[in-house]
Amino acid sequence: MLLLPYFPKTDLPVLLLFIGRFHPLILHFPIVIIFLTLALEFLYKTNLLQRNERTIALMLGLASLSVFFVVLAGYFLFASGEYTGELIMSHFKAGIFAGSGILITTVLYLIGQYSNRKILNFYFTSLILTNAIVGYASHLGGTITHGKDYLTEYLPEIFNKRNTATKPKEEMLVYEDLIVPFLTTKCISCHNEHKTKGDYLMTSYATLVKGGKSGNSGLVKHYPEQSELYKRITLPVDHDDHMPPEGKKPLSLHEIEIMEYWINAGASTKQLLIDIPQDSAITQTIESYLPESRRLNGKILKQKAEKERLLTELTELAKKLNVSVQEDQTSEENFFTLSMQFPPANFTGEQLKELQAYFLLFTKVSLVASDIKDDDLFLIGQMTNLRELYLQKTAINGSGLVYLKDLQYLERLNLSFTQTNDATVLEVLQFPSLKQVYLFGSQVSPQVLQALRANQLSREFLLEEGPYN
Ligand code: HEC
Repeated sequence: MLLLPYFPKTDLPVLLLFIGRFHPLILHFPIVIIFLTLALEFLYKTNLLQRNERTIALMLGLASLSVFFVVLAGYFLFASGEYTGELIMSHFKAGIFAGSGILITTVLYLIGQYSNRKILNFYFTSLILTNAIVGYASHLGGTITHGKDYLTEYLPEIFNKRNTATKPKEEMLVYEDLIVPFLTTKCISCHNEHKTKGDYLMTSYATLVKGGKSGNSGLVKHYPEQSELYKRITLPVDHDDHMPPEGKKPLSLHEIEIMEYWINAGASTKQLLIDIPQDSAITQTIESYLPESRRLNGKILKQKAEKERLLTELTELAKKLNVSVQEDQTSEENFFTLSMQFPPANFTGEQLKELQAYFLLFTKVSLVASDIKDDDLFLIGQMTNLRELYLQKTAINGSGLVYLKDLQYLERLNLSFTQTNDATVLEVLQFPSLKQVYLFGSQVSPQVLQALRANQLSREFLLEEGPYN
């Protein structure tokens, strides 16, 4: 058994693959039995239960028999190649130690029982150790199935009672716990510091009141009809000024009602839910809206945590590769931008490949003056959320542009100071969303440029150096 990890993975007969799938089911048997054995031993030792050697012998026998099949099935599952990675290897090894532990414990017990009673002390130590290893191996196995942090996911919420998602109702504030969550999920993406549509910043109470371009106050205490925010959310959905704009998820009727009530009541940030008179018409609405507000709060927190995790991982990797990774501030989702540092490091397709696990998270990539080649654009073609790509001062001649033609969101492409020529530049005509192409200092001739400009009115072909990131 101990040698199993050193067996190479081979093609297994289907029957063995079938047996392998039983591993997650049958593994529970030896775990429970070996734990019960330990529990029994404690009960015997403390005289809470009458000692019965046959029970122990039976339990150990069953544990040994079942663990043998569990390890075998586990090996088949492993050898099928369905699972790979370090975690799998650790679980595999821990599982084998656990299995060996059970067998050794059984043997020690039998020797102790039937020939040399001194060995029984070793048996007991071995039983405790084995239980610990089984626990560890099971934990690793659970991590494979449920993911890291599964066990501890709710811990912060247990300790952090003030977490809005789980805050008791008596402490909930109308503004902070009911209103902010839906404004955050439905409005902030266009009304934040980086992207302030209509000059209306919705990230704090003060700016929410202040209003935007129209000059009207966003919130007028006690007068919803005079509040620009309320006016916008209650316009007919197909009205040009309705908020959020067409295509974005509108506020629900409950959310609009709560907003109206809150402004009428004075739009205070301090009003508690329990301050609302029980008999008022809004209590019913709020009651049925509570689960939704908790869900939104949970979602916001989770997304924040996820972003932090990704940012930490990416920052570490970026440091290693000598490049710079930043949050994409213009996006409401967890997106990032990649750019070169100055002076530029050695950055080729090899280095780019190291970021492959995160390709879908990049919206903006600037590889100015890097060592990226045409062939490497194949990798960039996998960044399906890419909106802007800066390739100026690289050695490409445009022959790899064909790899980018399926990028649905690519709007801006900078090819200044590259060897892109009359033939290769035509590839960009296939790009579905492209709006701007920079071609200053490239090999594209004035005639082709003119023809492109005349025929491709939806795109701009610019003879400018263009932005760098
Ligand atoms: C997809 C982007 C987008 C989203 C999401 C969005 N808005 Fe807007 N908002 C705009 C744009 C663009 C304008 C400016 C054009 C206009 O005034 O209609 C604007 C303007 C406004 C204004 C007018 C500010 C002023 O004083 O001129 C208000 C109020 C407003 N939005 C409220 C909201 C609210 C409330 C939500 C969420 C329910 C929201 N917006 C979601 C894009 C957005």
